[in-house]
Amino acid sequence: MAAPFEHARLLAGVSGLLRFADDPLGRLEDVRRQYGTRVFYEQLGIPFVIVMDPEGVEELLVEHAGALNKDRFTGELGRVLGRGLVTSEGDLWRRQRKLMAPSFQPKHIEKLAGVMVECSEALLADYQAGQTRDVHADMMRLTLDIVVSTLFGSSPVRSDEVDEHLSAIMSDFHRLMFTWRAIFPIWTPFPTRLRLKRSRNRLQHIVREIIRTKRTSRTASSDLLSRLIAVKDETGRGMSDAQLLDEALTVFLAGHETTALALTYALCCLARHPLALARLEEEVDAVLGDEPASLASVARLEFCGAVVKETMRLYPPAWAIGRSALEPISIGGKEFTAGTQFMLPQWVVHRDPAWFAAPLDFLPERWLSQGGQSIPRFAYFPFGGGPRICIGNHFAMLEATLALASIVRRVRLSLPAGFEFDLVPTITLRPRAPIQMYVDTRAPGSQAVMSAGQRVSSRSDSSRFDRSS
Ligand code: HEM
Repeated sequence: MAAPFEHARLLAGVSGLLRFADDPLGRLEDVRRQYGTRVFYEQLGIPFVIVMDPEGVEELLVEHAGALNKDRFTGELGRVLGRGLVTSEGDLWRRQRKLMAPSFQPKHIEKLAGVMVECSEALLADYQAGQTRDVHADMMRLTLDIVVSTLFGSSPVRSDEVDEHLSAIMSDFHRLMFTWRAIFPIWTPFPTRLRLKRSRNRLQHIVREIIRTKRTSRTASSDLLSRLIAVKDETGRGMSDAQLLDEALTVFLAGHETTALALTYALCCLARHPLALARLEEEVDAVLGDEPASLASVARLEFCGAVVKETMRLYPPAWAIGRSALEPISIGGKEFTAGTQFMLPQWVVHRDPAWFAAPLDFLPERWLSQGGQSIPRFAYFPFGGGPRICIGNHFAMLEATLALASIVRRVRLSLPAGFEFDLVPTITLRPRAPIQMYVDTRAPGSQAVMSAGQRVSSRSDSSRFDRSS
């Protein structure tokens, strides 16, 4: 029997809003402990619902998908990025998803494996023993390189140029949405808003030029943008240049920060769990030897894939999914009015002892085909689910596995003593400060060894280790 909905007084009203804003992840855990997995409350006259059990998540993302739109933040993002797949709704979304889905199928994505490895190797060429590197910045650079190379192919666009404008857009967007500026009307001419528009115009200009060149080019290319230019619907109509532009900006944004976060957190988890690192190094050495990672090696990099999955369980780059009810809907027998705002936090569901034994421990082996536990479909949903499931999930898993194997093959990264994970849940779950890691180069066969004083289990004291606000 599904849990009943409880009234979460803790989050109601202006005091609840301030309490939540102060530490969203901590507050969600408090709510789960105090009231259970299904709660409702009101803030400034708007009804809110949080659902934190797999059955309820599935009901919302799958059965009620047609009655729900994305939430306010995603709507606001649409003003910046245009109506690409992440922000569009209704008929436009349906048409675009149908047009784009074939290009994201594994058989097409697998052709991009070589580019993913090349970009990873290019980053690693800069790594030297004894260096200290900001790995979050490095992983952002790597995943942007990959997304620019796979989207644009051989077009003469530099990813640092895209990075400059995209980073400016996102940091200004965060400033507008997640600080005191958020209480002012959308048209208030803050310098931040004007600067954001300038960056967006420059980025749009770069992408428009590439679309123009590709449209007129006679040479066949296998990059993603060329595929999107070529696709047609059943009436023979393709995408307009304006729509292609919005989709390209969306893929840049949706496709690089999330994977960069998964890789950054995986490297941190490995640095804190020598046994898991040793097992991964052993697998990488056995599978790759002296060769770079490749598509052919992915199926045998099973532990590497499990590390990525376990990292996204504990540190989901998309930490919560938001929805807004278009019409009245009933969940578990309770009625909710149109306009109700729903939140489905992966952060809480992924750490629920009902679905995961030792939920705060970093245990990649729980995802191995031998001995992996069986859990309800929506106990783990880092890529969402239902019709709006992440279109880039195969891309992301392939990219993260290849990049992680490439890194582990060449270097061993460690964290400074006393490092504390400090997370900021904005649209994605970001580290508050740069994550500096110490670089040691390694040769195949030199697995991480454990000194007598080191932990002998993969237990993560993550409740102490996480500081989130
Ligand atoms: C670890 C990496 C990634 C994570 C955790 C992630 C997570 C998600 C989640 C949770 C959603 C659904 C949001 C919702 O239902 O409101 C989503 C949607 C989406 N993602 Fe990803 N994503 C990742 C990588 C990628 C990549 C690599 C791409 C493209 C190359 C991509 C493109 C998209 C797009 C276009 C959508 C919108 C799909 C739609 O609404 O039809 N993502 N992603």
